[in-house]
Amino acid sequence: MINLILLGPPGAGKGTQAKHLVETRGMVQLSTGDMLREAKTSGSAMGRRVAEVMARGDLVTDEIVIGLIEEKITGTAGGGFIFDGFPRTLAQADALGQLLDKAGQRLDAVIAMQVDDAALVARVTGRFTCAACGAVYHDTLHPPRVAGVCDACGSTRFSRRADDTEAALKQRLMEYYKKTSPLIGYYYAKGKLAVVDGLAEMDAVSAMIEKVLDSPN
Ligand code: AP5
Repeated sequence: MINLILLGPPGAGKGTQAKHLVETRGMVQLSTGDMLREAKTSGSAMGRRVAEVMARGDLVTDEIVIGLIEEKITGTAGGGFIFDGFPRTLAQADALGQLLDKAGQRLDAVIAMQVDDAALVARVTGRFTCAACGAVYHDTLHPPRVAGVCDACGSTRFSRRADDTEAALKQRLMEYYKKTSPLIGYYYAKGKLAVVDGLAEMDAVSAMIEKVLDSPN
């Protein structure tokens, strides 16, 4: 059982690759972005606060996201976790280490997905997802095989994220470089880091990730 962090800027392909690993390896995807979007739809006061923060492209507080992850780690059995979009700060990384220790688990690999900023803008502004099953598409880079119909579940309902605008993306990138990119050095120092070219074709990226998972540190 392997526990993996997918680390990378917005639009690097973390969600796309996490879904692939769920299908091929039966791993459990823990996306704090997805969890927060669910909390938003609950209509609670916390959900409304979270919605405002996310729409601006800022990070939600460490306390909230660590609480969400703690619930999942202790309450989910499965074939290894993929942490997608978590941790995003040094405090979150320390907390994850402690939570895994407490659960008698270890972190096996951290994969940093590298993509240049210009490609991220194109990816994020063209992204849409299936409203029924969450499969991720792109207007030009990865459209469904039949236009308007989800490859995975056949649904014809799709949605776009409120923070997938150029303005919000700039702020998300700023947050990434200020608060999340230091984690690359943090995990390198722990001997856990592997770097993957996220600009490659999706299948090629998947193959590079599989290779890392077949010989984790
Ligand atoms: P979150 O939902 O985690 O978003 P993100 O990190 O900004 O990442 P994205 O989901 O935008 O991109 P991705 O890397 O998954 O790319 P994807 O596979 O979709 O977070 C959203 C917000 O929630 C944050 O801004 C923050 O407010 C809050 N939040 C979440 N976690 C938090 C935390 N831990 N702490 C504090 N706040 C938190 O791919 C993108 C597009 O590119 C798709 O269209 C896809 O089809 C296409 N694509 C993917 N791979 C390729 C490829 N190889 N070639 C061509 N196209 C590709």
